[in-house]
Amino acid sequence: MDRHLDWPAERRLFLATPIAPEMQRTLQALQTRLQQQEPRLRLVRPDNLHLTLRFLGQTTAATAQALCRTLDQDSLQGLLPAFCQPLNQTEYWPQPAILCLTGLLVDPALQQLDQRLDQLALQLGFAARHHPLRPHITLARKATAPPPIASAQFAPVMFPYQARQLVLYHSDSTPEGVRYRPLAQWPLALKATADS
Ligand code: 2AM
Repeated sequence: MDRHLDWPAERRLFLATPIAPEMQRTLQALQTRLQQQEPRLRLVRPDNLHLTLRFLGQTTAATAQALCRTLDQDSLQGLLPAFCQPLNQTEYWPQPAILCLTGLLVDPALQQLDQRLDQLALQLGFAARHHPLRPHITLARKATAPPPIASAQFAPVMFPYQARQLVLYHSDSTPEGVRYRPLAQWPLALKATADS
């Protein structure tokens, strides 16, 4: 990906892992079912679906360039591990007013990646987080109540999510709504197994 890390003033940025097209389609089917139950929900468009790792907020181009340089080095040194995240609960979070797909953070690789990204963000002067990482994929916004269908009924879409890529996104407000545009990306390192 060509990087265009040059802009006046500031852009709203965040680090996340993307969702592959096949999984986007599965999640879209789940979103459709949720909206059938609650027509006022505002669904996240399939190509905007992602798992946020570290929200950064308003960022200058110089800071984004510094972040990318460090992530380039981390990536070369294998310090950005691939992870697997169970997504087996649909939940309503009243504070951001979202419906999301979530699960417990159980993979030490995600804990390691999370710690590294948070450390980097703090070193670069980004604001501290209000709470620890709660891995989730936001499916819909403007939610006012828990999903009317029990999680168990979504069994066909429950899967461990395999994250293989880290992406720096620009949250771009357009007249057609927000678009998450990738600015830079890094492969996440797969751990060598004993017999590989
Ligand atoms: P979420 O949808 O995964 O919950 C881009 O705006 C993304 O950053 C959003 O999709 C949201 O993640 C997350 N985000 C937005 N504002 C945030 C904030 N103030 N604190 C933490 N995360 C935020």
